[in-house]
Amino acid sequence: MTTDPEHLELPLAGGDVTEGVVRVGRTVRRPVSDTSTVVRRVLAHLHDVGFVGAPRFLGVDEEDRDILDFVEGEVAGRPWPGWVADPERVASVARLVREFDDAMEPLGVPPWAERPYSPDIAGLPAPIAGPPTFIGHLDITPENVVFRDGRAWALIDFDLARPATRAEEVSNMLLWWGGWMPEADREAATRDVDPAVAGALIVTAYGLEEAERSNLVELASNLADRSWFLMKWRAETMGGGWLRMWEEGAGDRILRRAQWLRDHRKDLQRAVGAAR
Ligand SMILES: Nc1ncnc2c1ncn2[C@@H]1O[C@H](COP(=O)(O)OP(=O)(O)O)[C@@H](O)[C@H]1O
Ligand SMILES: [Mg+2]
Repeated sequence: MTTDPEHLELPLAGGDVTEGVVRVGRTVRRPVSDTSTVVRRVLAHLHDVGFVGAPRFLGVDEEDRDILDFVEGEVAGRPWPGWVADPERVASVARLVREFDDAMEPLGVPPWAERPYSPDIAGLPAPIAGPPTFIGHLDITPENVVFRDGRAWALIDFDLARPATRAEEVSNMLLWWGGWMPEADREAATRDVDPAVAGALIVTAYGLEEAERSNLVELASNLADRSWFLMKWRAETMGGGWLRMWEEGAGDRILRRAQWLRDHRKDLQRAVGAAR
């Protein structure tokens, strides 16, 4: 331990999963995990193509932690601040994610990005997303977006980055920024969001093509159904934060979301299908 301010370790709360994320001066240190290799390559690629909306990977420290740039700005903590529901902010998130996805697209789906996704989980529904076309972020929660001057500036926390389609990436945003879950399960800040209005805003700001909008709600349902099995599997095989979230009712929340999506399917699909 040191009292030198440049070396002081300030804990960074916010996420559910990674323990021991700290700020040290102008850097962030994250314990190396089995996803670090993918994350480092993704960040290196983004740097190579000149995408500035992500931290740079700077190396590994003497405690075997990844060193990243600390991105100055405003990040939501818990409870989420009211601005998480601000339509201009939400649209700016969708535009930033679009830029990120466009920056990732030239890389395609390299072999190192494939995840050992345990295909033999009993009961796991088949995916309907279609073949992935790029490495998506897929964890676009308010805690993982840095804002500057009231608009989304950078994405952080690439631990769940994996091969995706654009519709999958947008589905992930709809969850956290579009209120696509039962009101009672939402954070207070997004409880009054109208999922049809926010959904249309997000697909429009992202510029999701018509073909990919046409079965977006069905895809969201399929992803919810699958995520129940995948999350249970992660809780059982990985433990840690995954197990804690499961024990705190994450599985039941997913089941309620799947039902909510079925109940609101028509209205939601009309909204995102017709959005321009
Ligand atoms: N590179 C960064 N720049 C600025 N803040 C960061 C950075 N990395 C992490 N943080 C802050 O730390 C929090 C937790 O880090 P994160 O990488 O999201 O870990 P977790 O896996 O726990 O979600 C974030 O919500 C954010 O507030
Ligand atoms: Mg996070």
